[in-house]
Amino acid sequence: MRKPIIAGNWKMFKTRDEALQFILAVNEQLPSREKVDSVICSQFTVLRCLVKRQGENLRIGAQNMHFADEGAFTGEVSGQMLKSIGVSYVIIGHSERRAMFNETDEAVNKKLLKAFECDLTPILCVGESLEQREGGRTEEVIGKQLELDLANLTKEQVKTLVIAYEPIWAIGTGKTATSQVADETCGFIRKTVAKLFDKATAEAIRIQYGGSVKTSNIDELMSMPNIDGALIGGASLKADDFVTLVKAAVK
Ligand code: PGA
Repeated sequence: MRKPIIAGNWKMFKTRDEALQFILAVNEQLPSREKVDSVICSQFTVLRCLVKRQGENLRIGAQNMHFADEGAFTGEVSGQMLKSIGVSYVIIGHSERRAMFNETDEAVNKKLLKAFECDLTPILCVGESLEQREGGRTEEVIGKQLELDLANLTKEQVKTLVIAYEPIWAIGTGKTATSQVADETCGFIRKTVAKLFDKATAEAIRIQYGGSVKTSNIDELMSMPNIDGALIGGASLKADDFVTLVKAAVK
């Protein structure tokens, strides 16, 4: 049995005071970490503040990192820097970074390798655009992303990796993929991992769905066999909603 994992992706939201209010409100309410992994991925400036106050059942993640250890990379943050302040997870290859910050599959692959070296758990995002889905190219696009992004990773690493399937057309649009479409594509991701590595690795890896997940659709999504959790943007910003979303994953 794979343990469910619910991760909030705060994107570029929340000041320090707002982040503090959130964590103080959720800490006591989150279900046990034995049953579900609860993660908040915040922007860099509040990471340390959240790590210091994370309760027993919450872990903190970043939304990006550089693949170098250090160097002349103005504005960047390394995996080692994240690890040194107690961060546990890092989102890699979010579609907003791929589209707006020119993040290539090659860079994503280097970041994944470095994240494992730094003992961070990566949440790798993959997904197709509306045009690609309508053109019947979803599997081709995601298959290629996985092949390039997961190159040179070991089976042991891939077993602990989290993959978030996020159709770009469903992110922040209010349009959720139907649970069938989401499950089918997560199933395809699992099959592809089996092909690239082996069946045991594919059975172990946790696959989230992301894209307009909210309290009203989480139950149905979580009931699908290939969906092990969710990566949640907008709906993770409110403390009560985040707690409801995590609790839904335990049922
Ligand atoms: P959304 O974002 O839940 O606001 O659609 C999801 C994401 O981008 O990770």
